[in-house]
Amino acid sequence: MVGKLITFEGIDGCGKSTQARLLYDNLKRISTKCILTREPGGSKGAEEIRKLLVTGTSNRWSAETEILLFTAARRDHLERTISPGLRDDKIVISDRFFDSTKIYQGAARSDLVELAETLHHLTIKLIPNLTFVIDMEPKRALKRGLDRFSGEDRFEEFGLNFQKKLRAGFIELTKKENKRCHLINGDNDPQKISKEIFQIYSDHSNG
Ligand code: TYD
Repeated sequence: MVGKLITFEGIDGCGKSTQARLLYDNLKRISTKCILTREPGGSKGAEEIRKLLVTGTSNRWSAETEILLFTAARRDHLERTISPGLRDDKIVISDRFFDSTKIYQGAARSDLVELAETLHHLTIKLIPNLTFVIDMEPKRALKRGLDRFSGEDRFEEFGLNFQKKLRAGFIELTKKENKRCHLINGDNDPQKISKEIFQIYSDHSNG
């Protein structure tokens, strides 16, 4: 594997998808071979699993089942999209990856973090080269997320306190893994944020 995996993480509605897209556009502009993908999803089978995960009522799945479904989707995504991209020396940009499982399912049930980590270790293994965590005040992010009327609001429906817990989890992650993870202030203008991200990416590639 010679390419690089770059992931974007953060709470619902924080603007990470926009930033993943802007990084992709910037890399294309300088003729870097890259792929833009997302989780849950990013391959045909994983997109089908996505539908099961993001629609329906908030109690549709137990936390255990969710971890298994997210990991199954990720395995398919890895086999069909990420690994071929990396083998082809591409920069693979993923809108969410394993950190989301650890933080979302861990926020729902902290005793399940170990299960999530063990499954990751056994079936996925891959750790991103670089991760951008877009940070935003949960009230603002939640409003933006729900204003999209995407019909995929199962996790937003867990409410503000859940989003606050997630935010704390993401901030802690950037402290624990401060070489890989960069905390980005999502309140700034999107173009300004994108410049900051591109600078970090360039420093990382040259360093
Ligand atoms: P996403 O498509 O990124 O939604 P959004 O664009 O609204 O942020 O992800 C869908 C939902 O799935 C989101 O609420 C986060 C959740 N999720 C998990 O709970 N665990 C995971 O492992 C992943 C990848 C996503």
